[in-house]
Amino acid sequence: MAIQPETKHPFLLYAAAGFFCLYLLYSQITLYLSRRRIIRQNGCQPLVHRINKDPFFGLDVIAENRKLGSEKRFLPCAEQRFYRLGVWTYGSRIFGESFVVTAEPENIKTVLSTKFKDFTLGVREHYFKSLLGHGIFNSDGEKWANSRHLLRPNFAKDQLADLEAFERHMKLMLKAIPKDGSTVDLQELFFRLTIDSATEFLFGHSTNSLKYMDVDDENNEDTIFAKAFNEAQHEIVQNVRLGGLSFFRSQKRAKHVNRICHEYVDKFVDDAIRSRERRDLEKDAAMKQTKYVFSHELAKQTTDKKALRDELINILLAGRDTTASLLSNMFFEISKKPYIWAKLREEVAQLEGRLPTYEELRNLKYLKWCLNESLRLHPVVPGNSRLAIRDTVLPLGGGPTGKSPLFIPKGTVVGYSPYTMHRRTDFYGPDATAFKPERWEHLRPGWEFLPFNGGPRICLGQQYALTEASYVTCRLVQEFKGCESRSEGGWVEQLTLTVASDKGAKVSLTPA
Ligand code: HEM
Ligand SMILES: *[C@@H]1O[C@H](CO)[C@@H](O)[C@H](O)[C@H]1NC(C)=O
Repeated sequence: MAIQPETKHPFLLYAAAGFFCLYLLYSQITLYLSRRRIIRQNGCQPLVHRINKDPFFGLDVIAENRKLGSEKRFLPCAEQRFYRLGVWTYGSRIFGESFVVTAEPENIKTVLSTKFKDFTLGVREHYFKSLLGHGIFNSDGEKWANSRHLLRPNFAKDQLADLEAFERHMKLMLKAIPKDGSTVDLQELFFRLTIDSATEFLFGHSTNSLKYMDVDDENNEDTIFAKAFNEAQHEIVQNVRLGGLSFFRSQKRAKHVNRICHEYVDKFVDDAIRSRERRDLEKDAAMKQTKYVFSHELAKQTTDKKALRDELINILLAGRDTTASLLSNMFFEISKKPYIWAKLREEVAQLEGRLPTYEELRNLKYLKWCLNESLRLHPVVPGNSRLAIRDTVLPLGGGPTGKSPLFIPKGTVVGYSPYTMHRRTDFYGPDATAFKPERWEHLRPGWEFLPFNGGPRICLGQQYALTEASYVTCRLVQEFKGCESRSEGGWVEQLTLTVASDKGAKVSLTPA
């Protein structure tokens, strides 16, 4: 009697297991067939060129990347990989994860624009969420679309950047520059200036780090925040570098500095909501005259405190180091070529010493060439990536010459390198690695020039950043008749989340 259930059970078990195997087989076959169809329909050719010798873990690539990073040669060496293989798209595999890396404008356009919906940011959210929460820079899909929808109108204003505020911060920066021609590192001043102006723009309250430069006041909460924000970014960089191993890294320091950042921003979120309540009460014209404060504008659209905080920190992160890095890289280069300063002086002379207006800033053509040339040679976001969330196809990269379409299976990370692309001689000529603003007289590049990204996630702060960088440069050119480099040799990367100049922007400035 007791035998029966025992004989029945194994039978059911075998049947279930059998069905399961059949199901697996079936789904593998349908996957195989559907992929074969995509490959055939698009004329895809296999990925031929790969960089790793260790075919699964890619330990050789990890070791090489770490070494190049510590020697500050990561960008030029990553560029060399393309030349070594003789193609603009190659593959690698790290810890079982597939990467396709490309410097083809057509591929990048496909990822960022044509097939935008086939890709997400991948691991970014994981590394950034402890600081950034779920803001625009850090989210995908519907969440991202909501953020973008919330923020975009606030960037739409034509004259968003406040030139008067820039001038106030500029005056403090000018004060910090020696007038006797002794060496000054402008990079340090640029990083202070951009956090001071960005916090004023976003919160209506500046960190004033230029003002309190020499007083190391342990109790000044603006100073404490500015430091904590730098450190919080540093913590993220360390975790990103370690990848999966960051799991074993202590996050105590990160938690501490993140909390400082959050509490600081929360005060301004409360301010913004209070100002909205006041406005609701008064609803009069007098309010219209008050200064534009980003957080106050946002609070008109939402009173969700966490959402407000997240978006504000996201924008601060996206906008601060980038603009400072652009200025630093550009001043490193132009201080090496006195003829450029002379040309800028000539151009700015039309202002006859007055502060520039919007209109006038826009008309400084040579200055814009310099900004474009710096963003070309030293794009401050030199590399980036997206994760394929479904099977898809890139137009280039397949076959031995990389000229055929390439099948991208779901789960592949597509890395792309504006740094490499911006230095391709087939786009920019044999002198592509030289800093030469004049080349912009005739250049009208498409996707091969991508400092601000493209497609639906194109940088929201582009106009703000270019206005700030133009203003700062214009004012320095007005105030000083000479700007000479005080560092030896060429530009070297300082690669964090963005890329600045490892030698800073050490110059000697001669007052006009
Ligand atoms: C020279 C200065 C700047 C450069 C080179 C730059 C570059 C970029 C790039 C490459 C991205 C795309 C990131 C990605 O999707 O993976 C981006 C996104 C973004 N940038 Fe900028 N940026 C600059 C300044 C600014 C400033 C000043 C602000 C704000 C005031 C800003 C706000 C944003 C925002 C909000 C995003 C996210 C857009 C989205 O995901 O929909 N950026 N920027
Ligand atoms: C800078 O580059 C952008 C993007 O290609 C282009 O639209 C703009 O005209 C360039 N500016 C100048 C002054 O050449």
